[in-house]
Amino acid sequence: MSNPKVFVTRVIPDKGLDLVREFCDVDLWQSELPPSREELSQHIRDVEGLLCLLTDQIDGEVMDKAGPQLKVISNHAVGFDNIDVPAATSRGIPVGNTPGVLTEATADFAFALLMAVARRIPEAERYVKEGKWKTWGPMTLLGVDIQGATLGLVGFGRIGQAVARRALGFDMRVIFYDPGEKKPYPDLNATPVDFETLLAESDFISLHTPLTPDTRHMIDAKAFSKMKPNAVLINTARGPIVDADALYEALKAKRIFGAGLDVTDPEPIPIDSPLLTLDNIVIVPHIASASKTSREKMSEMAAQNLIAGLKGERLPNCVNPQVYSQT
Ligand code: DGY
Repeated sequence: MSNPKVFVTRVIPDKGLDLVREFCDVDLWQSELPPSREELSQHIRDVEGLLCLLTDQIDGEVMDKAGPQLKVISNHAVGFDNIDVPAATSRGIPVGNTPGVLTEATADFAFALLMAVARRIPEAERYVKEGKWKTWGPMTLLGVDIQGATLGLVGFGRIGQAVARRALGFDMRVIFYDPGEKKPYPDLNATPVDFETLLAESDFISLHTPLTPDTRHMIDAKAFSKMKPNAVLINTARGPIVDADALYEALKAKRIFGAGLDVTDPEPIPIDSPLLTLDNIVIVPHIASASKTSREKMSEMAAQNLIAGLKGERLPNCVNPQVYSQT
């Protein structure tokens, strides 16, 4: 019997790819850039499984290009806003993601960005490399304190809580806003508050919520107007949660102290984006989960989801378990 045909939309770590190759007949997209919609539609035709990335937009039309034999979509990411999940569910296709294995790496990175912006590390490095360091200055490159500050977490799931654990080491007061989580976490020194309170009281605001119609542009001009002047915004979740124009205005006018973005809207950020002209922002290319171990584990989990779906088994991590109860 021949192996099931699958399309893998990018080269992923061997840990996962070897597993997929063992069980499947693999069409592997080798290019550094994602397939275009047209290329995706061509390569997905007649496959039984799709292993895709957050850079691939998978909607009902793309699913239909594959054909009715498409059994599983496995996303190599914990976030799955690139996939039209209701469209998959209505076609009976389970969708897999990779939760848990990137939690600590992402929390480390959110904290690294927080510290980099608070203490102006990238700006200070540019200062040295541009030959501006002439002497020790009592007023040079002053930042904001982290120790004892209030950290506001938007979203208090796995990653939000992992960031809160790190904050304990800095004696921070942690407040969080999460519609699904109303109880305090005394062991994390973390208290639930409403969104307005979080905006008004936080010295640092870090976003850890999925991108949904409700969270798109959740951080807009109105939200910035409620933040403290020393506030620092950190986004390692999804770019469109922040209104980029409003962020530019807030940073330019020094309404807030600074921002650190691992994710932007759009991605990649256009090289002529006004945000790139500012000193009080640190922008990196969506690498919060980019530790070797996390990426290996993500690939393994994505492969396991794919293979389970092809075998007709329940995916170890399924975002639309309703597919198993519908007739
Ligand atoms: C995810 O998994 O959703 C991250 O954004 C990339 O690792």
